[in-house]
Amino acid sequence: MTALQSRVTERFAGRTAIVTGAGVGGLGAAYAEALAAGGARVVVADVRGAEAEATAERITAAGGEALAVEVDITDEGGVESMVDAAVGRFGGVDILINNAAVMFRFLDEPRTPFWEVPLAEFELVQRVNVTGSWLCAKAVFPHMKRQGGGKIVNVSSNMALGTDLVWPAQMAAYTTSKAGVIGLTRALAGEAGPHGITVNAVAPGVTNTETVGEHIAADRMEAVAQSQALRRQAWPEDIVGTVLFLCSSDSDFMTGQVLRIDGGFITH
Ligand SMILES: NC(=O)c1ccc[n+]([C@@H]2O[C@H](COP(=O)([O-])OP(=O)(O)OC[C@H]3O[C@@H](n4cnc5c(N)ncnc54)[C@H](O)[C@@H]3O)[C@@H](O)[C@H]2O)c1
Repeated sequence: MTALQSRVTERFAGRTAIVTGAGVGGLGAAYAEALAAGGARVVVADVRGAEAEATAERITAAGGEALAVEVDITDEGGVESMVDAAVGRFGGVDILINNAAVMFRFLDEPRTPFWEVPLAEFELVQRVNVTGSWLCAKAVFPHMKRQGGGKIVNVSSNMALGTDLVWPAQMAAYTTSKAGVIGLTRALAGEAGPHGITVNAVAPGVTNTETVGEHIAADRMEAVAQSQALRRQAWPEDIVGTVLFLCSSDSDFMTGQVLRIDGGFITH
């Protein structure tokens, strides 16, 4: 077998991944299941413990290895316990996907103008989406450094990119947090790079997950699709491949980058 063949067939064999917000029904669960299918041992982390268990059970039933952890990523002690559990069970941490987030008021219509968003809500969105991602990176860093490398993938949004000002409007807390994730990615990439750790981000567009399906009407989803160069709706499997690329050795010489995955969203 050539080196390239073995990289493809054993993509994540022997690797341990932590995926936050991986409770069943969302994008995180899709990342966790795909990593497990590629041979990774996966820590399925979520503040909703039962949903984390459900994803872990699906992985185990499919012949993979998974550990469910109930954790609030804004709690530093809880995050450290999550990483300790990963290291205790699987011996290390090679991959972190910072996927957990809250999307307050992002999805509901009518949306809320920034002058009506309560302070506590604005702060909570930053605390989960930005501070939580930083805490998870902070907790895995010593282990990745000791191992001589690692892959961190942060999850931003296309709301934080581009020139369109229609979509980010009335989603101030969420849009701000996802721009913060890009800043975090760039800062961590510079500091972690000398230790062989890559830090990149993905910026998906609106994607059909359970949460999105509960809040966004089908006709609005179709309107989004018609605003894209690729005129069809996005599903988790449309996002998974790019995230796995950033978790794999195929992306070993790129860091600090943001990959937009939105079918070429143009604007209204
Ligand atoms: N679905 C989309 O349209 C879309 C588009 C762009 C970006 N994203 C991003 O992708 C990620 C996943 O989105 P999704 O649609 O699957 O949403 P989701 O709501 O299904 O998933 C988010 C998960 O994070 C968990 N979570 C929330 N707060 C947490 C906390 N404090 N600690 C631990 N876990 C916590 C939730 O329980 C949930 O399982 C998010 O970062 C989101 O911002 C989603």
